[in-house]
Amino acid sequence: MKINLQNLVKKSVRNSPAYSSARSLVQNGKIFLDANENSLGSILGNIQKVELSRYPDPLAGDLRQELAKYAKVKSSQILVGNGSDEIIWMLLMSFVERDEAILTFSPTFSMYRVFGDLLGVRVKEVLLEKDYSFDAKKLLKQIGAKTKLIFLCSPNNPTGQTIPLRDIEQILKSKKIVVVDEAYIEFAVQKSCAKLLKKCSNLVVLRTFSKAWGLAGLRVGYALANEEVVRVLAKVRAPYSVDGLSQALALQALKKQKQMEASVKKILAEREKLSEALWKLGLIVFPSEANFLLVQFPPKISATKIYEKLVKQFGIVVRDFSKKTLLKNCLRATIGTPAENSKLLAALKKILK
Ligand SMILES: Cc1ncc(COP(=O)(O)O)c(C=O)c1O
Repeated sequence: MKINLQNLVKKSVRNSPAYSSARSLVQNGKIFLDANENSLGSILGNIQKVELSRYPDPLAGDLRQELAKYAKVKSSQILVGNGSDEIIWMLLMSFVERDEAILTFSPTFSMYRVFGDLLGVRVKEVLLEKDYSFDAKKLLKQIGAKTKLIFLCSPNNPTGQTIPLRDIEQILKSKKIVVVDEAYIEFAVQKSCAKLLKKCSNLVVLRTFSKAWGLAGLRVGYALANEEVVRVLAKVRAPYSVDGLSQALALQALKKQKQMEASVKKILAEREKLSEALWKLGLIVFPSEANFLLVQFPPKISATKIYEKLVKQFGIVVRDFSKKTLLKNCLRATIGTPAENSKLLAALKKILK
């Protein structure tokens, strides 16, 4: 599929040169007097062999190399960000002019709308079906001349369902930039759509270390995309947004893929147990391919009251979505440790009695 990607880029970004630090231009320097760092060193010494007195690698070269093996793409097709949140922001900054629009569905991850609203662009949302399945035709009908970015979250937060690959392929044919947020993909049965990158230069896949890798505190996310898209995104970032320690620790994490997979397996087993137990309490539990469950309470029971009681009486914090479109009387619970899940169940039993 032939697409002129530069035509899709915001004018101001297209016309601006990419920022380059002296460090990224020089490969074999020995004495670094270019960035006004403290040459006497860090007051903390070094941690993880990271030279803390130096600015981090702006391109996260080592991390991208390892990520390339994990994600089965070229390292030049990877952009690392300060969480995938930062990359969502960068996408909007790169592609969407003030009089243009983004398109997504609802309910979904809130940051597409939050960032879109902040930047003053139009945010169009197509409702999911009542069972939270996705109707590609409905979304395709809403794509207009002003639509620049389409955000698809799969598995979707907070509903837990994936979007079939054939639907993603169909939407890619619109030749708009299609962002598939795969923050929860490691938990999913459905495979990543990243293999479509080979034929679709307008696809951007978002991933994160915050979920299956258990590293939300590091703030490392990444995008898999066409090399040209990666170059465009790199223009709009703050030069050193991913710090050196986070890069080093994410790199170390990638060497422990087996451990991550084992942890995912345990979470999936817990999810099935918890789901079954919640059904037995008379609640509706929606099928999930992620590390959370969306639960609907019967009409006579107020989900918000349950939420409040869980916090006040048991110190258990879940997410109340009950006032959101299509999520009437729903709470979302992350899968906890076996002990935490037992406590959640025991608390719910007491409250519902
Ligand atoms: C679908 C989705 N995308 C992105 C993010 C943000 O992840 P990160 O921690 O990488 O910024 C989240 C976090 O909850 C999420 O649910």
